Amino acid sequence: MDNIVSIKDVSKVYDNGFAALKNVDLDIRRGEILALLGPNGAGKTTLISAVTGIVSISSGSITVDGFDNVKQYRQARSIIGLVPQELTIGAFETVWNTVRFTRGLFGKKKNPAYLEKILRDLSLWDKKDNQLRMLSGGMKRRVLIAKALSHEPDILFLDEPTAGVDVELRKDMWRLVSDLRESGVTIILTTHYIEEAEEIADRVAVINGGEILLIEDKAELMAKLGKKQLIVELKSPASALPESLADYDLSLSEDGGSITYTYSTTADGTGITGLLQRLSEAGLMLKDISTTQSSLEDIFVDLVKAQATTDPEGDSL
Ligand SMILES: Nc1ncnc2c1ncn2[C@@H]1O[C@H](COP(=O)(O)OP(=O)(O)OP(=O)(O)O)[C@@H](O)[C@H]1O
Ligand SMILES: [Mg+2]
Repeated sequence: MDNIVSIKDVSKVYDNGFAALKNVDLDIRRGEILALLGPNGAGKTTLISAVTGIVSISSGSITVDGFDNVKQYRQARSIIGLVPQELTIGAFETVWNTVRFTRGLFGKKKNPAYLEKILRDLSLWDKKDNQLRMLSGGMKRRVLIAKALSHEPDILFLDEPTAGVDVELRKDMWRLVSDLRESGVTIILTTHYIEEAEEIADRVAVINGGEILLIEDKAELMAKLGKKQLIVELKSPASALPESLADYDLSLSEDGGSITYTYSTTADGTGITGLLQRLSEAGLMLKDISTTQSSLEDIFVDLVKAQATTDPEGDSL
């Protein structure tokens, strides 16, 4: 597998003694969209800052396209674009000049047509002569994205790009992300909107308390940890679950009108056939049957909770 970023045994202890990253190992594959999920304070921004060279690491090593991001930071940095979590842009500069200047900082040749395309893609073209202080928060975030793309990076880090932006911008942003991916850009994003990660990511990494809890293909993760539920609606309400069904993980709704069966998608056989047979033997008539599958969000919450109970030293939520 061709890895574009390789993070090996990286730890970060901030000046105040706080260990924000603990022996992190993570390989990022060329061309993938990796979603980095974790609760507030998990270390997501610290990890991104370490790769992008904004914070220095305490131990370990990071290579970016083969370049050591400390010893060869110029080369490493030149192929990275970063959309930071915090809105950090000047006030009086215009949109156009900011984006042009950022491209220049990376020593890239002028390319007004490319910059125009970015600004158009981000619906910023009609604001190009506006000073940044005249823009709304969501528009400023678009400018940050335009800046991050201005030097045609191969790797784009998006740290909470959709925090506090409206639905429309969020859609624009995801469209842009998939276009960039199509053009071969590797994308690492953090988000608290897990359903977005679920939709867009190829792989998902979960970080908590400075440790990577898992990294997995999204589809496999969902298949592995996903639980399904079968909901059986009854013709007439039951007052209790029949004894004969005690082996199944069942719950009866409060009104007695439906039974929910929770089963793992990886177990050998789901047990549904047997359950349905026993239901009918118990004299329960079915009105309807439906299934639901746990989302990435459910999986994520379970994982972080499990770590909190098994690792009392760890950072709590
Ligand atoms: N400069 C710093 N000095 C000391 N501690 C810091 C510093 N920056 C971050 N931390 C701590 O490191 C931990 C990880 O912070 P980080 O910003 O990486 O979290 P995050 O996962 O990005 O959280 P969020 O979802 O809130 O953005 C937190 O406990 C934070 O308080
Ligand atoms: Mg953060």
